[in-house]
Amino acid sequence: MMKFSTKKLQLSQVKTDLLGLSVSKGQLSTLGKEVDRKLGGLLSKILKREDLKGKATDARLIETHGKIGAENVLLFGCGEPDKPDSDLLRKAAARLTKTGNRLKVKRIAMEDVTVGGWKKIATATRGQMISEGAILGNYTFDLYKTAKNSKKTVEDFAVLTAEGARLENGLKQGVVFAEATNSARDYINIPACDMTPKRMADEARKVGKLPRLSVKILGKAEIQRLGMGCYLAVSSGSVEPPYFIHLIYKPAGRPKKRVAIVGKGVTFDSGGLSLKTAQGMETMKDDMSGAAAVVSVMRALSVLKPRIEVHAFAAMTENMPSGSADKPGDIAKTMNGKTVEILNTDAEGRLTLADAVAYAQKQKPDLLVDVATLTGACVIALGDLCSGILGNNDELIQKLIACGKEAGEKIWQLPLIDEYRDELKSPIADLKNIGGRWGGTNNGALFIQEFIDSKLPWAHIDIAGPSWTEKELDYCTRGGTGHIVRTLLHFLLQQ
Ligand code: BES
Ligand code: ZN
Ligand code: ZN
Repeated sequence: MMKFSTKKLQLSQVKTDLLGLSVSKGQLSTLGKEVDRKLGGLLSKILKREDLKGKATDARLIETHGKIGAENVLLFGCGEPDKPDSDLLRKAAARLTKTGNRLKVKRIAMEDVTVGGWKKIATATRGQMISEGAILGNYTFDLYKTAKNSKKTVEDFAVLTAEGARLENGLKQGVVFAEATNSARDYINIPACDMTPKRMADEARKVGKLPRLSVKILGKAEIQRLGMGCYLAVSSGSVEPPYFIHLIYKPAGRPKKRVAIVGKGVTFDSGGLSLKTAQGMETMKDDMSGAAAVVSVMRALSVLKPRIEVHAFAAMTENMPSGSADKPGDIAKTMNGKTVEILNTDAEGRLTLADAVAYAQKQKPDLLVDVATLTGACVIALGDLCSGILGNNDELIQKLIACGKEAGEKIWQLPLIDEYRDELKSPIADLKNIGGRWGGTNNGALFIQEFIDSKLPWAHIDIAGPSWTEKELDYCTRGGTGHIVRTLLHFLLQQ
């Protein structure tokens, strides 16, 4: 566990193994210039020789040979300081941490960035970005490696700043946000053989023991009793029984409002009898990323203590083919009585969500947000770095998009086109679980909308793309990303 602190911006007091200094428009900061003088102009020589202007991607490591209190210096670019890139500090802190681990050092320090437009960003926000970047960048998943090859040596992360107290608050909040994200990453990365519906319910039980939280887990008998027939149809092919998670956060005083967050929790999506291809299944352990996110969010709320009540729901199940599996053409009934013709067993997420949102609304929330790895079409539309958002309330959607910007998570609004609803009609049941050939993300959202009270503000976030990354990102290794956890946390803190 890394420890974060703030220190004065005074070179004479800096004792560290690795110091991060910013470069902006080819210029060093005040502290950087002082370091440069002590090093006999080495830094400015390097900037000039290598033509380092301070692009966001610039990075240069320099040994100081004991001439200052920092053994090594890492120069990082500030990008366009007049238009501060909201993700730059996270990336810089992540790179610094990874460099520290590579150098096998214990103490690292980074200067706060206040040049140009950065001054206008709240000090606490800068602090939050720095600790988030460091902890997210430090994440590795080696639970299943017999030889732990990713040694983490960095223990102390100091931020050199003129605004200690305020920045420190931000650092603290960033730690909570990042640890919740890393917890979601773990849930996703643990393979489906271990991360079964039961295991996820056990994880939720652990979270439910934290202060101000409580948990209710429904087993198969209870799920049957409630008549969650579409959810049960999805789970019918699996030997793993379903578990329905309901986590509750209650603030100390009277809550200002009640929010429901619902996450898709398919621990493995084989497609069922509408079987996926071998390649299409490779990453389908990530089909519970929505559930991983909402459970991890609850864990953070225990520490962040917002003044609202929050309910998290996840209908955990596998989607497997077998002699007992749901078959194309089957008709199932949700707990609120609507019948659905299951024409494609691979469109299982919406079946589980139909029952999950129906159950969630019994808690009388003031608004509902669902997050789901729902459609491949969303990945086609927006790529694997951006979620799609749809819903019945533009204000709610805009708020969530803005929170995504704060979190460094991309969310783009797609229209919810009512005309396409006709294609969800079944000749023999109330609905079918697939729509027409086109607009797949739309069809998924329209299906869920059928189970949402039209007066309830609702947003659906399709995280199918960014929930997983094949390539290493600036502050995320290959695998589950924990995307949307921090967006939801920003959102809940603003309610
Ligand atoms: N879990 C998948 C969606 C998905 C696909 C997530 C690729 C991440 C990457 C979902 O259950 C699914 O299979 N959706 C189908 C729906 C179709 C049958 C209407 C899809 O997108 O192909
Ligand atoms: Zn599927
Ligand atoms: Zn799925």
